Amino acid sequence: FHVEWDVETADKGGYDHYMLKEIHEQPRAYRETLNNRIDHENQRVDLSKEIHLSEDEIRAIEKIHIVACGTAYHAGLVGKYVIENLVRIPVEVDVASEYRYRNPIITPNTLVMVISQSGETADTLAALREAQKLGAKVLAITNVNGSSVARDADEVLLTHAGPEIAVASTKAYTAQLITIYLWGLYLAQIRETQSEEVIRQYIQALSQLPTQVEKLLEFAPTMKQFAERYAHYEDLFFIGRSLDYAVSLEGSLKLKEISYIHSEAYPAGELKHGTLALITNDVPVIALATQEDVYEKMVSNIKEVNAREAYILGITLEGNEEGLSKSVNEVIAIPRTLPLLTPALSVIPLQLLAYYAALARGNDVDKPRNLAKSVTVE
Ligand code: G6P
Repeated sequence: FHVEWDVETADKGGYDHYMLKEIHEQPRAYRETLNNRIDHENQRVDLSKEIHLSEDEIRAIEKIHIVACGTAYHAGLVGKYVIENLVRIPVEVDVASEYRYRNPIITPNTLVMVISQSGETADTLAALREAQKLGAKVLAITNVNGSSVARDADEVLLTHAGPEIAVASTKAYTAQLITIYLWGLYLAQIRETQSEEVIRQYIQALSQLPTQVEKLLEFAPTMKQFAERYAHYEDLFFIGRSLDYAVSLEGSLKLKEISYIHSEAYPAGELKHGTLALITNDVPVIALATQEDVYEKMVSNIKEVNAREAYILGITLEGNEEGLSKSVNEVIAIPRTLPLLTPALSVIPLQLLAYYAALARGNDVDKPRNLAKSVTVE
């Protein structure tokens, strides 16, 4: 049972902007997206009411292509890590406007996943149709039931984020992540690539996310202070490794969309191959260090930018803040969860940072210049 989000809930509800309201609605969006999809008694993910592919068809999938635009594409990048790690199916991720023109190799056992908040993005819709023409089954992850993407796709998983009004996507992105986690676990159960114990751990960790997000949202005043400090800069870098790089891309997009600060996201290990030349004491760096398996390597990358006197904000896991504070100027610690799930938490401070930076610069937060919520032309 899903409580319908009505027009009244689409009101600003006491917040100054839709974006801020939508950031704060994320705990609810996580709960709604998880709702009815977990069999708590058996500690299993159950998508059988929504997915019509048979277990044999799911076992036959040989590769997955994820196709999307903008923020949804960034959710797809996280999806690659999640599916490849949980299920060991090779995943390629493409921006929809490129996909059709690269002559993609689609075999009868290729599954194409499209991700779209609106379900109306012209490039995503065209990629979906092209994939079907080439013989692929298409699974859509969308926020709008009855949208063009939802109607045309063979399989649909809805994100239950509720209406998203602000051009800069926040709760739709995180609801896409939650849906991807559920889908990855569902595949893992059927293909038996993870033990029941591991599935149980994921289910527990997923259920804790909404409360952890609530805790993170309490950082809003701190992020406002940081944002006010960053707002006068013209260039900024986000760095991270593995999943932190995927989240850096989304943090950077959010910042440039609404604050108009030029920003780039870089895989931290790649900096020394060119971009390090741009790091000075006038270019702040936001460094994500939430992935334990690359933590030490990330810390050495942070030291490289620290040596160039960049002002650094580090984002790490609770318990690591003291160690990291030796190499950065400020630290934010996010609650601990399973490594694949950290994007659903680490993106929250970045959304707040973008929001408050745009606010400090006096921009129209909900309607940034030159951008549209839904791009229905190619
Ligand atoms: C536009 C929006 C973005 C969004 C992208 C894809 O550029 O401004 O926020 O991520 O389209 O939209 P979709 O509705 O397909 O997710």
